[in-house]
Amino acid sequence: MQENEYFEKVKEKIKNKNLTYKIITFGCQLNENDSEKIAGMLEEMGYQETEDEKQADIVVFNTCCVRENAEERLFGKIGEMKNLKQSKNLIIAIGGCMMQEKQMVDKIKKSYPYVDIVFGTHTLQNLPENIYKAMLKNEKVRDILNIDGEIYEGLPIKRNSDFSANVTIMYGCNNFCTYCIVPYVRGRERSRKPEKILAEIEDLAKKNYKEITLLGQNVNSYMRTERENGTATSKIDSFAKLLQEVAKVEGIEKINFISPHPKDFTDDVIEAIAKIDKISRIIHLPLQSGNSKVLKEMNRKYTKEQYLELVEKMVQKIPNLSLSTDIIVGFPGETEEEFEDTLDVVKKVNFEQIFMFIYSPREGTIAAERVDQVPEEIKHKRFDRLKELYETKVDTNNEKYIGTTQKILIEGNSKNDETMFCGRTDTNKVVVFKPQENYKIGDIVKVQITENHKWYFKGEIQK
Ligand code: 5AD
Ligand code: SF4
Repeated sequence: MQENEYFEKVKEKIKNKNLTYKIITFGCQLNENDSEKIAGMLEEMGYQETEDEKQADIVVFNTCCVRENAEERLFGKIGEMKNLKQSKNLIIAIGGCMMQEKQMVDKIKKSYPYVDIVFGTHTLQNLPENIYKAMLKNEKVRDILNIDGEIYEGLPIKRNSDFSANVTIMYGCNNFCTYCIVPYVRGRERSRKPEKILAEIEDLAKKNYKEITLLGQNVNSYMRTERENGTATSKIDSFAKLLQEVAKVEGIEKINFISPHPKDFTDDVIEAIAKIDKISRIIHLPLQSGNSKVLKEMNRKYTKEQYLELVEKMVQKIPNLSLSTDIIVGFPGETEEEFEDTLDVVKKVNFEQIFMFIYSPREGTIAAERVDQVPEEIKHKRFDRLKELYETKVDTNNEKYIGTTQKILIEGNSKNDETMFCGRTDTNKVVVFKPQENYKIGDIVKVQITENHKWYFKGEIQK
């Protein structure tokens, strides 16, 4: 394979030099998963990871463009790299979603000409070749494809965790929600072959991984395009069927998936979840808005009533179900009454977790062109009102956990108190508890919940 050739070439070139890398990742878990592959490739070439980007010989930025704040942080960071670049032989590479936007690549060219490599979302696998060109020929490499890349299997991977793994099952999105840039930067939906996915998960189980998260921008439309075009080559040609097969892999104890779309939450998926204990009981069901007119303008393809009916059906069929959601406030044209419909849904549905976003216009999307943008001040006020409602609901909802015993995977030490362990309930609530001698990170323990601290619980390990 051509790529292997460059793995070897770079390896030869940097041999015995003890060179290091640092990857800075923005955005979602799909980007995290791509970064794990970038790390895998860099290590294959002989680079070693360093925590400190100032020490690194190659710094890779994996970018996101879903909302504006990630952009500001990125440009701040690249600006900081300028002096470093002048003082040593540093390679700076920028990849990911933002590099699929022409105006961003132009900005890099103009304002940050010292950046060595710019690569898009479809050309991850060319990194060794691009590094080789930048290093040896001192070229400024621009490697961006505007057509959908083929699915590229078999890249080396260095995972962030030893017991919980992300597995991307499909790439791209066909939905074109009018606020969202993803379909423009990630291309059309492409599903990985079920055999490849299952082989990856079986391999993970052999390596003692206990938990996996199936990833896709629109994870429950897995194989839809292939089904519609009659090009599916396996009997496993739907998300529900894939879930059933994944559940058969011995050793995997917990299965999560993100992000599903309510419109693709078909009965077979609900039944599969209801039947299979291994599937996490917390399901992410992005609402975006609680008003049917806004939903229509967002091109979400469901109404407020249909969303509530779906929730009702899921609650009925899936015991112990918990829901989390994404909500955008201040979509163009959103009126006070329309926003109140969102609050109404939040009052009606007991969401365990809400990821709240202030609408951020993305160049090239339909909603960004609208002249009736909601003023910043109003957007922020609505955000605060939603947050307030959410916080009271979280606090009340938490009370039901007090005194219960939860099965918890020890993920590590608590960030705020190194002497404590932390993990998560099945419903993704953080629990902090005192270590006991016979238990270590990666073990699953029973923890009794003792204190409610709104965003986390305290608990005690049960014998
Ligand atoms: N502005 C604000 N939030 C957005 N999201 C996607 N695009 C935008 C945007 N332009 C949110 C949606 C999505 C989540 C990943 O990010 O809620 O579900
Ligand atoms: Fe964006 Fe909608 Fe696709 Fe999700 S489903 S990635 S919000 S276009």
